[in-house]
Amino acid sequence: MSMYKRALLFIFSVTLASIGFVSFAQDTVLKLGSPISEEQLSEFDLIAGPDGAGFPSGSGSAAQGKQVFDTRCAACHALTGEGTSGNTVLVGGDMHSEGSPLRTVGSYWPHASTLFDFIRRAMPADAPKSLTSEEVYQVTAYVLYLNGIVDQNTVINRETLIAIEMPNKDGFIDKNQVR
Ligand code: HEC
Repeated sequence: MSMYKRALLFIFSVTLASIGFVSFAQDTVLKLGSPISEEQLSEFDLIAGPDGAGFPSGSGSAAQGKQVFDTRCAACHALTGEGTSGNTVLVGGDMHSEGSPLRTVGSYWPHASTLFDFIRRAMPADAPKSLTSEEVYQVTAYVLYLNGIVDQNTVINRETLIAIEMPNKDGFIDKNQVR
């Protein structure tokens, strides 16, 4: 085949391919579901950060949270928070042991706000987002209490929660500070 014929054949096939693509794009209805409503979106837009942004109003103490924990959490985390399997341990732990460190809320998490955020979003694992904001504050206080971080009657709300100093608060390095 001459160069000329080859070039013609090439142009012809490129043209065919693009016609095919355009007609595919015009005829195909992509089944991507229905548009999400603002209300549905708010179910996912639930970030409560260490700077205090994104917290709902409400408050609670460990004394109030005990009942929530015993009925909604203990089946998987045990009444003491010591867990029923390797990844359900919520209390104790040691980041400086000889072997692998046991990372728990008490030994590892640098911000108390993350506890509220995580429970509100993901727990109880068998019914996420089924707790009221008030219950999330209460049970957050209880998990902190089980870790010896607050006492029974400390009232946890947006302000007091972000002011709590977690035991491992200095255990992380801010990548923006590293030179
Ligand atoms: C049906 C079982 C189940 C129930 C009920 C449950 N959890 Fe969990 N929870 C888990 C599992 C499994 C994990 C580990 C998830 C993972 O590692 O991704 C977990 C992880 C957690 C963590 C993070 C622990 C860590 O260090 O990573 C917290 C905090 C927590 N749960 C709190 C709660 C609270 C509070 C409740 C009750 C409101 C609750 N959970 C109810 C199964 C459960």
